[in-house]
Amino acid sequence: MLMNNRPSRRAIVGILVAVLLINLYLFGRDRFYTSLWIGPTETQLDISDSNSGLRNLVTSLKSGFHPPAPLSLAARQETLLRDLSVQLKEQKPQCSPPKVDGHVDGVTFDPVNLKPRPDHVANADEIQGPMQEAHDGFVAAIKEPKARPYNKGTKGIVSSAGGEYLPTFVASLRMIRRTGCELPVEVFLKDWVEYEPYICEVVLPKLDAQCKVLEEIMDVVRDGQGKPSKHIKVEHFQIKPFAMLLSSFENFIWIDADCVPLHDPTALLGSDPFSSTGLVTWPDFWANTASPLYFNISRQSEPLMTARAATESGVMLVSKRKHFPTLLLAVYYNYYGPEYYWPLLGQGAYGQGDKDTFIQAASALGTTFHTVSEPVAAVERDYDNGAWTFTAMVQADPIEDYKLTSQDIWRVTNATAAKAPRVFFLHASSPKFNAGLELAKKSRRGRLYTRPEDVIRRFGYDIEKSYWQEAMTVACDLEHAFDSWKKSSELCEDMQNHWNKTFSDPDAEFPQFSDN
Ligand SMILES: *[C@@H]1O[C@H](CO)[C@@H](O)[C@H](O)[C@H]1NC(C)=O
Ligand SMILES: *[C@@H]1O[C@H](CO)[C@@H](O)[C@H](O)[C@H]1NC(C)=O
Ligand SMILES: *[C@@H]1O[C@H](CO)[C@@H](O)[C@H](O)[C@H]1NC(C)=O
Repeated sequence: MLMNNRPSRRAIVGILVAVLLINLYLFGRDRFYTSLWIGPTETQLDISDSNSGLRNLVTSLKSGFHPPAPLSLAARQETLLRDLSVQLKEQKPQCSPPKVDGHVDGVTFDPVNLKPRPDHVANADEIQGPMQEAHDGFVAAIKEPKARPYNKGTKGIVSSAGGEYLPTFVASLRMIRRTGCELPVEVFLKDWVEYEPYICEVVLPKLDAQCKVLEEIMDVVRDGQGKPSKHIKVEHFQIKPFAMLLSSFENFIWIDADCVPLHDPTALLGSDPFSSTGLVTWPDFWANTASPLYFNISRQSEPLMTARAATESGVMLVSKRKHFPTLLLAVYYNYYGPEYYWPLLGQGAYGQGDKDTFIQAASALGTTFHTVSEPVAAVERDYDNGAWTFTAMVQADPIEDYKLTSQDIWRVTNATAAKAPRVFFLHASSPKFNAGLELAKKSRRGRLYTRPEDVIRRFGYDIEKSYWQEAMTVACDLEHAFDSWKKSSELCEDMQNHWNKTFSDPDAEFPQFSDN
């Protein structure tokens, strides 16, 4: 009897271990940990339902191999963020920040006349070694990320829009829907302070958009006491790369809150140049003024100043399948942005910030990406007595642009070489289409987008009128809904007044919106 006891106890232990392993195989790691750590009752539950687990195993063995179910998105985000917080800390540059001696002022992009690359970093010798070591370490750590949190095969639109950007975003979102676009939308807010329940729970779901609170996702990284670890502290200017990293879509269009598409952008994710490269960016007016030192640190050869403009990152197309490490390196560049990488990448150029971090990260990793060639165009309005004022910038249809450049037709160096691609995105930077930011008052001199005439014709239709109408609808339907509008009054009335004066007169003269 005694002799029999031992083997049978061993057998029980053996069966338990087998059950746990089968659980791991069938249900993935989450469930495995649950069955390990939670008390005996739960374990028993696991054992009893392992019968069906076994049945599933037998069925799946009969019908061929089935890989284990993947971990949930949240679990993969947690794994990613844990690793990332360690790597960001370990790979902090161990040196003083770059000293930029003098700075680059308004160097516009010139694709024809080659100029030397500006070089204003005064302490290059001192910081090259330590910055390169940290950069090498980070790149090595992210080449094969353990977790890639996105849902396979999905596509959508991602943005961020807290505080005074939220009303602008809602008007832009209505414009997206107006083009017929049905892509789901995720909008990132920095924290719960920026979360506006009525907008997030009532208004946005009707427009198939979902609020994501960055702080909530980031807080999964806990310290030893189980409190949210503040290792990764995300500031406002860093939201974009983190939002891209943590959005659930595999392929997405990033759109700033004050950017609108003129046409349904869904097709952009299914055609070249996106399909073959997985990262498409649009140009700024300015030259890319990254310092020679940056290219040393990131072990790249220095591109010619004529090669590409700085990025205007209001709109981007991103494949997380192809560019996951790119996004991680972009996070690194922005996490150490204000002190280290922004001065290196811009040397004080106008609009320094996250803009160039995405394509620099892609090229540092040797991955392919595409920069739209057709130059950005400024749009102006007649201000007073023939003075013209900048109001917005527009970006070209990337598919039409690519058709030209792949036939070796470069309008960027010869504007008469072909007809310009149609305008695809409008970046309405000044003023923003937000009634609470005095859109009506700022528009009181009439239309905002009136020239250059050739650019306005590339619109194809009266986008200003459409966008104004959506901003007015937002003002009238949601006049008291936004936190940032609490102190404003008569927003709807002001908007309607202007509308009646400017847009509803059938005899008014309009700019030409097409060549026809
Ligand atoms: C980049 O590295 C090369 C080779 O080490 C060096 O000659 C050059 O001065 C470096 N450039 C800068 C800007 O530090
Ligand atoms: C620009 O393109 C047009 C049309 O193809 C051509 O006739 C013209 O010679 C080109 N100009 C230059 C400077 O290459
Ligand atoms: C604007 O015009 C509409 C239609 O003509 C009118 O109903 C409305 O009262 C007007 N609103 C303002 C504020 O003038």
